[in-house]
Amino acid sequence: MGEALKGLKRNTMCGELREEHIGTKFTVMGWVQRKRNLGGLVFIDLRDRTGILQVVFGEKINTEAFHKSDSVKPEYCIAVTGELVKRESVNAGMPTGMVELKGESIKILSESETPPIYIKEGLDAAENIRLKYRYLDLRRPDMQRIFFIRHKAAKAIRDFLDDNGFLEVETPMLTKSTPEGARDYLVPSRNYPGMFYALPQSPQLFKQLLMVSGFDRYFQIVKCFRDEDLRANRQPEFTQVDIELSFVEEDDVMELNEKLIAHVFKKVLNKEIPTPFRRMPYREAMEKYGSDKPDLRFGMEIKDLTDAVKNSEFKVFAEAVKSGGSVRALTVKSGSTMGRKDIDRLGEFVKTYKAKGLAWIAYKEDEIKSPIAKFLTEEEMKNIIEKAEAETGDLILIVADKNSVVLQSLGALRLEIAKKLELLKDNNEFNFVWITEFPLLEYDEEEGRYFAAHHPFTAPMEEDIKYLDSDPGRVRAKAYDMVLNGEELGGGSIRIHDTDLQEKMFRVLGFTSESAWERFGFLLEAFKFGPPPHGGLAFGFDRMVMFLADTDNIKDVIAFPKNQNAFCNLTEAPNSVDEKQLNELGIEINQKPNK
Ligand code: AMO
Ligand code: AMP
Repeated sequence: MGEALKGLKRNTMCGELREEHIGTKFTVMGWVQRKRNLGGLVFIDLRDRTGILQVVFGEKINTEAFHKSDSVKPEYCIAVTGELVKRESVNAGMPTGMVELKGESIKILSESETPPIYIKEGLDAAENIRLKYRYLDLRRPDMQRIFFIRHKAAKAIRDFLDDNGFLEVETPMLTKSTPEGARDYLVPSRNYPGMFYALPQSPQLFKQLLMVSGFDRYFQIVKCFRDEDLRANRQPEFTQVDIELSFVEEDDVMELNEKLIAHVFKKVLNKEIPTPFRRMPYREAMEKYGSDKPDLRFGMEIKDLTDAVKNSEFKVFAEAVKSGGSVRALTVKSGSTMGRKDIDRLGEFVKTYKAKGLAWIAYKEDEIKSPIAKFLTEEEMKNIIEKAEAETGDLILIVADKNSVVLQSLGALRLEIAKKLELLKDNNEFNFVWITEFPLLEYDEEEGRYFAAHHPFTAPMEEDIKYLDSDPGRVRAKAYDMVLNGEELGGGSIRIHDTDLQEKMFRVLGFTSESAWERFGFLLEAFKFGPPPHGGLAFGFDRMVMFLADTDNIKDVIAFPKNQNAFCNLTEAPNSVDEKQLNELGIEINQKPNK
């Protein structure tokens, strides 16, 4: 049973009361964190989104209110009126710990059953329960703090872009499939049975059309939908900060966006982020870090040993080189004391990245220990140590294979070792880098054709256009990713605004002219009418908030996220629908729903 407010007004928030407010009468409203009855006194910790305030009811002061206050239980929603007084036993650990509200009257606005999860800071409950009762999970102060951060970040972005002449324009949610490389979420059409809208994977084509329209600085904080395998930093619906500008080149887009990021970190965390950000070509990132999103908070760069071992008697090395591959290494500082078991575990680890093995050399003070020492000449060993830049006490870890396997496995191993050795523990550095000069195209062995590495509207670098026909894999793109501490925060490119070049690009991607026009005709058509040179980028806003809120789970920064199987534990979506709805859509289900 809940009492009505009947004109009672809240006039302050629980977390805001301090000593300077002593002597004033207040009405607060919130939820009961806990209640204690110490004989003639009832103490209630009352919580709202600003914090907790202690309220005290004395039997002698107001007997009725005292008894009513004694009947409340955790998570009851109540209103209390009384005078703020100095607290007798000060609690220095609480912002309101110097004061308490002397309760004169209490209204029980609504009662609560015992909640299935405990409402407290840093709760460690099962995720499916937290998601099922998300509205209670979101009552927790640490969750609420995250959504303040999210709000502040969105506001900082809007303010910055507004100050820089950008216009926020909304683009459709019911649209035609846009190719960003993931599977689409489809929405059946009632007007056109058998036809489907797609939910946007990004507003890519619309923002380019807005450039053709002359909105030369566009942005949108926008939901995007991708039906892909979920990970700790991926959700099926997520939010992008989507940006596009006309009359710009790569530098303009990068300079603007690093300023935007510095502004957001300053406003939200009061943290100075130095600009300009470092830039690194894709090729260098791959060769030194085995990743197009390198974590530069630590070194441990990959070293190339190919020259030192190409003529070796050790077949594993010599043959990898002969067949066009390479031999490369990581040098773990002071790693020579690592135990045999630990090294074997690293060997198993690289196998998950298709490496056939992991050779190692422990460069100890008094000896060189290595299972491959017997295959190497003294000269070769000396050269390896030199190329690996190893010093006494270090451990050298080596993979020989084709380049892609060597770089990927050592790149992953580099991160694994950093985690194992806790190289990044207590590190609250934000290390930004732009990765540039991405390949325009990626060859898919299975399909036997090239795919756009970013999307088909990305412009090739001027000096590489000449290879588009002869050696497409060699063409670099005017594309850039912003990487923060080893995560891709955002990415974008300068777009093709020339119809001939766009059609050529489609040809290289294996589209016939008809199929390109069928899918993207509206864009190609628009490009007949004076499109400006343009480019842009999109940030993963959820990922940005993850950094700002210091969490490594994307679900923490989304109010109502899906679980790892794209299921909503709260609403139980997706669900089956009425036969009538299906009939209207002309849809027949040939698979039994299976949850
Ligand atoms: P891209 O596909 O790189 O570019 O996406 C931009 C950014 O969106 C974030 N992101 C995701 N975040 C959470 N869950 C997901 N499933 C997910 N997928 C992507 C990433 C990524 O960097 N239209 C282009 C941008 C452009 O060219 O302007 C695009 O969408 O942080
Ligand atoms: P083997 O003679 O095959 O037992 O290999 C000797 C050592 O070389 C072992 O430590 C293996 O883990 C390692 N090894 C095998 N294949 C590779 C490879 N492709 N790259 C690096 N080391 C390898």
